[in-house]
Amino acid sequence: MYKGGETDNLAAYQQLTKLNRLFLEKYPFMGSAIKSGFAAFGRTWADEFEELLTVMFPSEKELAAAADGYVRFALDVTRRQSRFDDDGCYPQKSFDKVAQEVYLNDNYMQSHYLPGLLLSHLLWPHHYRQSRFFIATFLRDMETMGARSFIDAGVGTGFLSRLTLQAIPEITGIGFDISPSSKKFSEHQVASFNMSHRYEVRVLDLCSTATKVESDWLISAEVLEHLEDPMLFLYKLRGILCSGGKGFITAAINAAEIDHIHLYRHPGEVKEQLQQAGFTVEQYQSIPAYKPRKADAPPPEVVAFIVT
Ligand SMILES: C[S@@+](CC[C@H](N)C(=O)[O-])C[C@H]1O[C@@H](n2cnc3c(N)ncnc32)[C@H](O)[C@@H]1O
Repeated sequence: MYKGGETDNLAAYQQLTKLNRLFLEKYPFMGSAIKSGFAAFGRTWADEFEELLTVMFPSEKELAAAADGYVRFALDVTRRQSRFDDDGCYPQKSFDKVAQEVYLNDNYMQSHYLPGLLLSHLLWPHHYRQSRFFIATFLRDMETMGARSFIDAGVGTGFLSRLTLQAIPEITGIGFDISPSSKKFSEHQVASFNMSHRYEVRVLDLCSTATKVESDWLISAEVLEHLEDPMLFLYKLRGILCSGGKGFITAAINAAEIDHIHLYRHPGEVKEQLQQAGFTVEQYQSIPAYKPRKADAPPPEVVAFIVT
């Protein structure tokens, strides 16, 4: 595996070079994603990405399947966002319908959604910037304050759980997710990094079931916009976070995706809901995906809050 810190040349990163080639040959319209990621974020990004690809998708076949899943996922997002630009709203859908179509559809989760989401953490600049914010703020606090355990609510791919387990050698974590496929995928990610003895995922609908667990450290990334009633979920999160504990809670704004139900039009709406649920906002960062293309079509944005 590439150990990092040796060169500024993309060719030194074997898996990244293969992914770049796959994009160029099979999906030319994706052509510049790797090169522009490297140009924008340099070796730190390339080291992280190379490690992820080497550990999660070591064979040609696995890498090709992940690339294919990512491209289908990204194209679907692009189509939905363009419809959103015209309509100004998300299509009306019930949570149950989304759960059947997405979270409980193992084939779709494993082939499109989870590899797509995982690679988006590195390939979408606003997602990558958000994970850097997580590392520089929340994860640093966890390290300096001697965190021993954490909860990740709506674990999805397990990306942030895995970063946390990697950064703090003794820490243990529990993830929750309604999707058995997310459990399988995130536990696989953590096991591939040899940390499964410190982590488990429980399958649970966090809106309708009590968790009976609490933690001083809580992560919940990109779940609020997936719900019919985000306030209900936030009250549950408030109940999970011990008094004096700290949470990292994010949401997507103006971002049309297959499973986005609740439309947040401004980061301030999320902030208000967090405060209403009893959280105090310590700091936040909001990152747009791109510059507005039209005056009346706001770009997708991710906003992350550090709360107590
Ligand atoms: C966009 S993904 C989360 C991304 C993830 N945090 C990451 O960093 O990769 C949303 C996840 O929330 C889960 N989810 C949605 N509604 C839920 C609920 N009511 N209870 C538990 N999990 C839920 C979905 O199954 C999905 O895995």
